[in-house]
Amino acid sequence: MALVTGGGRGIGQAVAVRLAKEGARVAISYYSNDATAKDTVKMARKVGAECEVFKSNVASIEDVQALFEGVGEAFGPVEILINNAGIRQDNLLLRMKDTEFDEVLATNLRGTYLCTRAVLRGMVRARWGRIVNISSVVGLVGNAGQANYAASKAGMIGFTKSVAREVANRGITVNAVAPGYVETELTAGLTENVKRRIFEQIPTGRFGTTEEIAEVVAFLAGEGTAYITGQTIAVDGGMTMQ
Ligand SMILES: NC(=O)c1ccc[n+]([C@@H]2O[C@H](COP(=O)([O-])OP(=O)(O)OC[C@H]3O[C@@H](n4cnc5c(N)ncnc54)[C@H](OP(=O)(O)O)[C@@H]3O)[C@@H](O)[C@H]2O)c1
Repeated sequence: MALVTGGGRGIGQAVAVRLAKEGARVAISYYSNDATAKDTVKMARKVGAECEVFKSNVASIEDVQALFEGVGEAFGPVEILINNAGIRQDNLLLRMKDTEFDEVLATNLRGTYLCTRAVLRGMVRARWGRIVNISSVVGLVGNAGQANYAASKAGMIGFTKSVAREVANRGITVNAVAPGYVETELTAGLTENVKRRIFEQIPTGRFGTTEEIAEVVAFLAGEGTAYITGQTIAVDGGMTMQ
């Protein structure tokens, strides 16, 4: 079974539906937006998957404990974990509030840590597991106005590599996907002029789709990728070419 944190909208929703199509039983977690989370459940069930939804703040140890108890009761041990829940609170560093730094790190990095720690023992026991952390190209190359977000996403990459090394001989792979610009509500709101300027930095000349991110996540979550671990795969239309 697969758990997708932040599966209520955007990339997480596309990943949950994609894993459901591949035949996985899927649990999603979300923070506050009940309506979109219910949509994900409907979409996953429509393609024939078992799917349940859990409201849980990934930054809270109590919430994460309750999440994994709930998921365990409904589905048994988590075999595939997608750490996707994430937030941004952009500001130039000189104007950044401590809360903006702390909240972004707490959701993106501490959330990934808490959820990964919660599944690891079960995966070690099963001698099989797939963990995919949704980082960002901003974690690879930085971005003005996003020092907090970039630190959290770069932190996820270091975390991915370290945990990958700890569990590589237990049949567990830990990888990261670093999306570039993805078509979401946020990018939909940009003016044509701003979009044109962004497209000039992307060799493929367009934003990616949530399905294109889900494609790579599903690949890394699959049976055939046992020999790929500790990697970060940028899905960014050639923007970074690391
Ligand atoms: N979109 C992009 O262009 C892009 C590019 C690079 C990387 N990423 C990364 O990809 C991931 C998904 O991005 P997205 O654009 O699809 O995001 P999104 O549309 O804003 O959705 C974020 C999801 O995370 C959930 N969430 C937020 N805070 C949470 C918390 N504390 N606990 C549990 N769940 C929480 C949200 O729940 P609610 O719906 O209840 O709020 C929602 O389901 C993020 O990690 C983001 O940093 C996105």
